[in-house]
Amino acid sequence: MKISRMSFDVLKLPAQNKALHCYLLMSVWILLLIVGVYYKFLEPSRRLPEPASTTELFQSLTLDVKTKRIFKICNFPDEMGEGDEGSLRSNKWLLKGVMILIRHGDRGPLQHVKKISSINCGTEESDILNSYKTYLHNLTVFGKLSWVGPGPFHGFPILPAHTRHCNLGQLTMKGVSQLLKLGSLLKRNYKYVWPKLEKLNDTEILVYSTRYRRTFQSALAFLYGFIPKDSLSKLGIYESQSMSFCFKDCGCPVTDKLAKFVRDSISYQLKAHPAVALLTQQTGKALFSSGAEQGSLAGDPHAVRDALLTYVCHGSGLPCENSNNCVRRQNVAGVFAYTDWVNHQKWRNTFWKRMCLLKSYGLMRHLVQQMLHVVSDNGPYFTLYSGHDHTVEQLTTALGISNDPLLLRYAARVAFEVYQDNREPMSGAKAIYFRVLANGKDVTRQVAFCKNIATIGKVNLCKIEDIVRFLHDDYFTGVNATNYKDACAYKYD
Ligand SMILES: *[C@@H]1O[C@H](CO)[C@@H](O)[C@H](O)[C@H]1NC(C)=O
Ligand SMILES: *[C@@H]1O[C@H](CO)[C@@H](O)[C@H](O)[C@H]1NC(C)=O
Ligand SMILES: *[C@@H]1O[C@H](CO)[C@@H](O)[C@H](O)[C@H]1NC(C)=O
Repeated sequence: MKISRMSFDVLKLPAQNKALHCYLLMSVWILLLIVGVYYKFLEPSRRLPEPASTTELFQSLTLDVKTKRIFKICNFPDEMGEGDEGSLRSNKWLLKGVMILIRHGDRGPLQHVKKISSINCGTEESDILNSYKTYLHNLTVFGKLSWVGPGPFHGFPILPAHTRHCNLGQLTMKGVSQLLKLGSLLKRNYKYVWPKLEKLNDTEILVYSTRYRRTFQSALAFLYGFIPKDSLSKLGIYESQSMSFCFKDCGCPVTDKLAKFVRDSISYQLKAHPAVALLTQQTGKALFSSGAEQGSLAGDPHAVRDALLTYVCHGSGLPCENSNNCVRRQNVAGVFAYTDWVNHQKWRNTFWKRMCLLKSYGLMRHLVQQMLHVVSDNGPYFTLYSGHDHTVEQLTTALGISNDPLLLRYAARVAFEVYQDNREPMSGAKAIYFRVLANGKDVTRQVAFCKNIATIGKVNLCKIEDIVRFLHDDYFTGVNATNYKDACAYKYD
């Protein structure tokens, strides 16, 4: 069975050994943190004095080792660097096409938070940002910045409404900068190994976005950096009605049940950690601005984490509920450590794994179809999916890629590269391979169903046969079914 095979792989493979090692370290660290939190609450008289001013706190956050890594989630544009995409430079291997899933860039909080008008969600000016703005102004009529291309997004705003202001759930200008940077970094990587990229016309490119401004605007900014400008202005952008990009395989009732099992196990874990629950509640009370949100969301560590990012990623001081309850460094560190740990536990949860397999089935099928189109030499050669953290999380889990908090950061990416093996001439369709990269790191070896891996230097390639076989024969064995319909009708009691 898939699930047990994978847990053995964790012990076998060197890449995953590292992940396990990291996990163990993290567990110890979380334990220490939790002990620290208990200590803080149980012995208030021994608490260290806190800095009085909240704005000082941002400086200390950037200096603190525990909180420093949290900034990686923000993915600041000037810290984004080149990944290993397109790193296979050999005339024996031909890059034929690429599929990329992105998470949208930096956005405002999903809930009303305190002091939001004083937070600066803007970005530094850069050459690419300026040329992008000029391009968009040129593209549109009478300065009305809405999409003029064909398709369901016609008339959608193409840039965030404000340059500095953080709007609820909306992409920020910092988010635009991230995607521009990402697109141009990837273009630089692919330029030499994939000359076709600079000639791709609009019919050779396929783009899907969910119907949110933040994903649509992220897709545009990414494409501006990545594809020829002429093609961008003619491009049709398609809508995915689901966050999972399920295409023809949506409607799977059992996933609701599985999601409930996962939620139950998460709230059970929180009950088992009362100190964390208390810390979360206090933090949430200081963060959320309306009474309703303070009541319903303040106790949810994931909602609190998301709201914290609004402050942490925009260099803002942390808010206070009153003079006795301010959000402190240890609140941030505690909430992040705990939610990372919960995500890691979730990743080992069988129900979660099954849910991800079922939710990602449509996208997985679509990806394989795109791979086959690329191979058949009639395109499209580049497919972009502009989605959410859920999309990335579910697809990588379904593939068996180990959980990494950075997979869920703003402007995260998962790339699939399709290669033809030219080592022996006329080797045909059997000689097609693909490679998976998560945030620029080759994770092909982690993919659960890849049995035929070719290794060239640091590059790993998986036979396309493996993913085709997985999809056709083995996909539902872990859920006790042979097809999607039966798997979705499975009764758990
Ligand atoms: C904008 O349009 C003008 C006039 O059509 C052109 O000269 C200029 O190069 C365009 N700029 C961009 C960035 O496309
Ligand atoms: C796009 O490029 C392909 C290959 O170069 C060509 O066959 C096709 O006609 C082009 N399509 C358009 C609309 O220009
Ligand atoms: C699959 O079915 C077998 C036999 O019907 C049963 O013993 C097993 O527990 C089922 N597995 C799951 C994951 O439901």
